Amino acid sequence: MKIIMLGAPGAGKGTQAKKIAQKYGIPHISTGDIFRANIKNNTELGKKAKTYMDKGLLVPDELTVDLVIDRVGQEDCKNGYILDGFPRTIPQAESLDAALEKMGEKVDFAVNVEVPDENIVNRMSGRRACVGCGATYHIKYNAPKTEGICDVCGEKLILRDDDQPETVLKRLGVYHDQTQPLIDYYAKAGVLKEVDGTVDMEDVFQAIVSVLGE
Ligand code: AP5
Repeated sequence: MKIIMLGAPGAGKGTQAKKIAQKYGIPHISTGDIFRANIKNNTELGKKAKTYMDKGLLVPDELTVDLVIDRVGQEDCKNGYILDGFPRTIPQAESLDAALEKMGEKVDFAVNVEVPDENIVNRMSGRRACVGCGATYHIKYNAPKTEGICDVCGEKLILRDDDQPETVLKRLGVYHDQTQPLIDYYAKAGVLKEVDGTVDMEDVFQAIVSVLGE
């Protein structure tokens, strides 16, 4: 099963994608996580990506598309995968479709997690991310057992650089301009599924499982 997660920054794509990957036994591929790992390791890709991410802008397609196409061609993706944060532009979606067509494959589901803008800034200001394993928490809705410490690996939790309110507003603008058109793109392809992302995390998960099927 090849699944794409759509939704505004902070809609809960990452939270849900991890749970879906676990339930269906498929890899979770997050372009944001890949870029953040590269930034942490100070790679050339990380240095370039950081200049865009810190401003709330998209990393250019030429740094993003081949990386994902390569990744979905790997052995562990044979039975499917969940893409979180990719595609984010129509050209990215077209490149993915073209690459999948060559492999005789196609996207099965594009799940749009719908959350209004007014909820987003609140979610982002409360999000904490682990510097070690990248696990995410929310100080109110999904708090770690010990404040500031990751339950999974015991490392420190921080507010992501791009979760500062002014950067979040910029990211929301970019989302509406460049990523939201993908909702129509996948509706036309007949694979769009919409879920309400404003309810409790577990209810969002159940709604996604119900649209994907057991
Ligand atoms: P990326 O990491 O993909 O960021 P994003 O899409 O902006 O999404 P987020 O990770 O911020 O949010 P999310 O929807 O995963 O929400 P989460 O589950 O964490 O990308 C970062 C940057 O990398 C981009 O800005 C761009 O520069 C670059 N980039 C990445 N991919 C790219 C691409 N394809 N092309 C070009 N550039 C690219 O949840 C948010 C918070 O809410 C958490 O605290 C969570 O605990 C909480 N929460 C989740 N669900 C609920 C709920 N139901 N109720 C209450 N709280 C909830």
